[in-house]
Amino acid sequence: MAFSSTITDAIAAYTGLSPAAFFTILALMIGVYRLVSGMFVGPEELKPQERSFSTMEIPAVVEPVQLGEITEEELRVYNGSDPKKPLLMAIKGNVYDVSMSRMFYGPGGPYALFAGRDASRALALMSFDPQDLTGNLEGLEPDELEVLQDWEYKFMEKYVKVGQLVSEKGKNACNGWR
Ligand code: HEM
Repeated sequence: MAFSSTITDAIAAYTGLSPAAFFTILALMIGVYRLVSGMFVGPEELKPQERSFSTMEIPAVVEPVQLGEITEEELRVYNGSDPKKPLLMAIKGNVYDVSMSRMFYGPGGPYALFAGRDASRALALMSFDPQDLTGNLEGLEPDELEVLQDWEYKFMEKYVKVGQLVSEKGKNACNGWR
């Protein structure tokens, strides 16, 4: 009892407040502190979360492998349906490894339809029509061919060319882009 009266005396002496007023103000200050500090994120919470991906979910991007001459049929296999295979796409008969842009060309990606295909005509016409997924450039206007040329430059700059489309193994390509 003597201890508590010493404390109330001390509070009155040092703050000039009654013990009830002092503890009410103290409780309010603690409340405000907790409210304000709750608005900020502590450094611990900013640490990147540990993630665990299964190796099946993220196909490893391996060094592009040169395939040489391949047919359109062989190119289809590289459309992303097999996550162990690279993603390939052709423009004007030149086959590029686009595996590094799986978010564009992989399954579910906005440009998945181009994977495993020669997309020259579709790119020239800026078309998503499956009928335009071909290397056939017949009847294209000069401005459309120019659009295709820009795409080709972009691909040459960004991706590794890994092969050349041929109509049949051992023969030269002849699909309209030459
Ligand atoms: C509403 C229309 C479209 C929008 C808003 C759009 C938007 C985009 C964006 C933001 C990118 C990413 C660019 C980058 O980060 O390098 C991209 C890439 C691309 N777009 Fe489109 N796009 C549209 C239509 C088309 C059409 C019609 C085609 C062709 C038929 C097309 C073909 C492509 C291709 C091939 C890429 C990837 C290029 C690469 O591999 O780097 N896009 N698009």
